[in-house]
Amino acid sequence: SGADFDLFRLSEEHEMLREAVRSLAEAKIAPFAAEVDEQGRFPQEALDALQANELHAVHVPEEYGGAGADALATVIVIEEIARVCASSSLIPAVNKLGSLPVQLSGSEELKAKYLGALARGEGMFSYCLSEPDAGSDAAGMKTRAVRDGDFWVLNGVKRWITNAGVSEFYTVLAVTDPELRTKGISAFVVEKGDAGVSFGAPEKKLGIKGSPTREVYFDNVRIPADRMIGAEGTGFATAMKTLDHTRVTIAAQAVGIAQGALDYAKGYVRERKQFGKPIGDFQGVQFMLADMAMKLEAARQLTYAAAAKSQRVDADLTFFGAAAKCFASDAAMEITVDAVQLLGGYGYTRDYPLERMMRDAKITQIYEGTNQIQRIVMSRNLP
Ligand code: CAA
Repeated sequence: SGADFDLFRLSEEHEMLREAVRSLAEAKIAPFAAEVDEQGRFPQEALDALQANELHAVHVPEEYGGAGADALATVIVIEEIARVCASSSLIPAVNKLGSLPVQLSGSEELKAKYLGALARGEGMFSYCLSEPDAGSDAAGMKTRAVRDGDFWVLNGVKRWITNAGVSEFYTVLAVTDPELRTKGISAFVVEKGDAGVSFGAPEKKLGIKGSPTREVYFDNVRIPADRMIGAEGTGFATAMKTLDHTRVTIAAQAVGIAQGALDYAKGYVRERKQFGKPIGDFQGVQFMLADMAMKLEAARQLTYAAAAKSQRVDADLTFFGAAAKCFASDAAMEITVDAVQLLGGYGYTRDYPLERMMRDAKITQIYEGTNQIQRIVMSRNLP
């Protein structure tokens, strides 16, 4: 019956959301994308525009004051922002990453307080898992939390923390029992203003230059015991469950970057004339565009399928989240490299947006778990 085929078509609400986010992104975010990259500054214009339109953390459920967007709607928001500015797309993406541990495992009090504050635009949320010596091996972390009466005292260093310094709230993973490895890790909410929290110098990166990446230092940070997210020893499982959902948002970011590059290249080959005709009339160029569009569409379909699993908390989510992130990021890298190629020398200059898109695409193969780690995750969770 016809109803079965609706699975492969977005709902009218999702299509309308895409149009609304696309016009907002083109009007309020795209004009600053090159400048944000060039100056390596935070895209405050994007944050303001997204907050004014309740698009900064769409995943927060309505009961906590959020827009209550489903996983697919969240993907569409991130995709459309990334299409014009990858750095800005980290606002909704990392707000989800940072706050999802609270949403999945936190007490009602924590959810009301912190998801509410996030939804109201009182502060963004970052996610502190990685450390200088614990990247792919996340469970090898050294940051320690020690109980002291009604408080926990945190000490340690987190590295590669997206939006560090601009976020108010931080989900922090720390060792509460060093004997138990993954079962001895717990999750906490730490606020930027908590005494003993400080930040390192911004990393000097290849891309996503508008999104600050800094170390976060915890020096005897004393927080109330009720800031623990879920039960003691469940932090690692919460961190991994979170990544199952949010790897889908990185896939969305990759799809958006690739769409931006393809759209630009498509326009360019119609205008650019060599040998007396538009270069888009040459079959060599047409074949490149066909391959780019094919890879992009495959990446998008896998990403949307993963979003559907994320929404239903399907048993195959772990595989699909990893597969979507891995496939879409590899596709985005190939597509943006080819888009630069189609513009020739112009593509290699900062007068055109494609070299930025190519640099921004690279991180999607690395963060939220390298694509080599995704293959480990996939092979352990084959559908
Ligand atoms: N869901 C629920 N629980 C899970 C889980 C999942 N998907 N995966 C693991 N767990 C829990 C389980 O309880 C498991 O215990 P059992 O075996 O008893 O079930 C426990 O965690 C330990 O799991 P593993 O034995 O698989 O642990 P491991 O040490 O072998 O690590 C790993 C597995 C997949 C390699 C993991 O370390 C990993 O994902 N590494 C990559 C880290 C990563 O993605 N970092 C990204 C940082 S965030 C970032 O990049 C943000 C940004 O800036 C945008």
